[in-house]
Amino acid sequence: MRILSGIQPSGALHIGNYFGMMKPAIELQSQGECYYFIADYHSMTSLSDAAERRRNSRDVALDFLASGLDPQKSVFFRQSDLPEVTELTWIIGTLTPMGLLERAHSYKDKLAKGVAANFGLFAYPVLMASDILLYDSNLVPVGKDQKQHVEMTRDIAIKFNQTYGETFVIPEPAIREEVATVPGLDGQKMSKSYGNTIELFGEEKAMRKRIMSIVMDSRTPLEPKPDADRNVAIQLLKLVAPKEVAVDYENRLRTGGLGYGDLKKTLFEHYWNHFAAARARRAELVANRDYVDQVLRDGAERARAVASKVLERARVACGLGD
Ligand code: ADP
Ligand code: TRP
Repeated sequence: MRILSGIQPSGALHIGNYFGMMKPAIELQSQGECYYFIADYHSMTSLSDAAERRRNSRDVALDFLASGLDPQKSVFFRQSDLPEVTELTWIIGTLTPMGLLERAHSYKDKLAKGVAANFGLFAYPVLMASDILLYDSNLVPVGKDQKQHVEMTRDIAIKFNQTYGETFVIPEPAIREEVATVPGLDGQKMSKSYGNTIELFGEEKAMRKRIMSIVMDSRTPLEPKPDADRNVAIQLLKLVAPKEVAVDYENRLRTGGLGYGDLKKTLFEHYWNHFAAARARRAELVANRDYVDQVLRDGAERARAVASKVLERARVACGLGD
C-alpha cells in the first residue's frame, strides 16, 4: 500500500497540524510505503516572500524529522524538486470541470475572507490531485479540512481513466475522527491564518503566554460546568496529557471547584512535556543541517523513480509524445 501526504511551508507548524496530519502520517510508516513532502509550490498561493518560503521549508523539514518521520522508512522530499508534478497538473487540469473547482470549500472560504484570488489559488486542488496521482497513492492521511480535496482527486482520476483508459490509482482519504479538528485558542479551528495557534516547537515563555490567553467564560471556579467537554483547554489536554489526567480535570471542571487559571497551567505543563523529546531531537538536527539537506536530496531521487514512470504512463495514455 502506498501512503502519501504533504504539508505547506506557509508558517510555523502547530499542534493542529501535528495531531491532525503529522502524527497519523508518522504512525502509518509501519503500514506501507510512505511518501511525505513539503508542498512549497502550494505555499506560493498564499505567500510571496522568497526568503520566508526557504526558511519555512527548512523548518518544516526539521519539525517533521524531529517528530518522528524516519527517512529509512519514508521517502521525504520537497515538492518543487520534482517539477514533473506541474506537467501532470496541466494534463489533468484539462479534464477538471470549472464547476468542481468553484465548489471547493477552501477556495470559497478564502474568497469570503476577501483574499484576492489568483489562478494558482483556483487551481490549488488540481496541483494537489497531481501530487497524489503522480505517486500511485492509495491512502492520503490529512485533517478533515482536506477531505474534499481528496474527493476531487478521485473525481479527476476517474474521469481521466474513463477518457484515456486505466491510468491512475483511485486514492482514499485517511482521517482520524477523534482529532478531526483541533480547536485553537479562540475555539475556532486552529490555523496559521487565524493567529490562534499553539506552535509545535514554540518558545517556552511565548507558548505559556498563549496558553494562558485561551478565551474562557466568566463563570466562577465553584460553579459546576456541565459543558466541560466543550472547553477548549480540556479538548487540548485530551491530546497532550495521559487519559486519566484529562478525565480527572474534565470531571473537576464539570462538578465545580477547578479554576480556569489552574486548568490552563496544567495544560501548558503537559503540552511542554509531551513534546520534550522531539524538541531535543530538533535541536540536534538544527546543528546538523547537512544531514537534513541530504535526506531531502535522497528523497527527491527516490520520489523521481516513481513519478517519472507514472507521468510517462499518463503522457502515453493521452497521446503526448511518440
Ligand atoms: P493551516 O490551517 O494552519 O494553514 P494547513 O492547511 O497547512 O494548516 O494544514 C496542514 C495539515 O494539517 C492538513 O492535513 C490539515 O488538515 C491539518 N490541520 C491543520 N489544522 C488542523 C486542525 N486545527 N485540526 C486538525 N488538523 C489540522
Ligand atoms: N493542501 C494540503 C494542506 O494544505 C497540503 C497538500 C498539498 C497535500 N498536496 C497534498 C496533502 C497532497 C495531501 C496530499 O494541508
